Amino acid sequence: MHANPETAIILGSGLGKLVDEIDIESEIAYSDIPNMPVSTVEGHAGKLLFGKLGGKDIMAMQGRFHYYEGYSMKEVTFPIRVMHAIGIKNLIVSNAAGGMNPQFSIGDLMIIEDHINSFPENPLRGKNIEPGPRFPSMHEAYDKQFISIVEKAAEELSIKVHKGVYVGTAGPTFETPAEYRMFRSWGADAVGMSTVPEVIVAVHCGLRVFGMSVITDLGGFGNIVEVSHEEVQEAADSAQPKMTALMRELIKNI
Ligand code: HPA
Repeated sequence: MHANPETAIILGSGLGKLVDEIDIESEIAYSDIPNMPVSTVEGHAGKLLFGKLGGKDIMAMQGRFHYYEGYSMKEVTFPIRVMHAIGIKNLIVSNAAGGMNPQFSIGDLMIIEDHINSFPENPLRGKNIEPGPRFPSMHEAYDKQFISIVEKAAEELSIKVHKGVYVGTAGPTFETPAEYRMFRSWGADAVGMSTVPEVIVAVHCGLRVFGMSVITDLGGFGNIVEVSHEEVQEAADSAQPKMTALMRELIKNI
């Protein structure tokens, strides 16, 4: 009996260990999927996992493509097209992000309520892929019902969560102090180098989306402290149990 999932999870920062909780029934290496970009940089090859989590059939994407690695926007978002083609209806994404809202602390979680696309290219540029609309609305990119499920779960589990706006940038540079201040003045609460391209394509495909950021460093107000990749990784890892618990509840209630 094969898993027949309607929910896909991109195992980004803060969610990597969720893989240990999946009863994996089958997996497909990216190298076996036609037109799928293959990561040559990382030691381990990416794959799609199929199995059960919290009693629900799910698909998990292990290994993600970032624009800063040199992939085109079409390559970064191709996995979303694959998800749609195999019948996925719901997408869950996570990321690490720099916090710019003065109420945020390192290790906090932020439910993404909305985003700002600051990438130099929109992933939908070019010939429109039917049946998605040429000019898709991004009015409610992040599903309100999913947000309220997670808010309720957070309250029950006594996990502090913020809600806010994520701005996605090309990277790979972290922001200058002036850039953090600019993004804050735009109305963003957190900044990172992923998620926005995938969410745009997911919305174009008609998927319902839930996104969550782990705040791994702080910029844009008071004392801006220089950030390093190691600190980002460490903060994301330590927030992992909280993030995993909330995602488990969301999947159960989808
Ligand atoms: N800026 C951009 N991307 C990030 C950051 C940041 O401060 N932290 C984690 N990813």
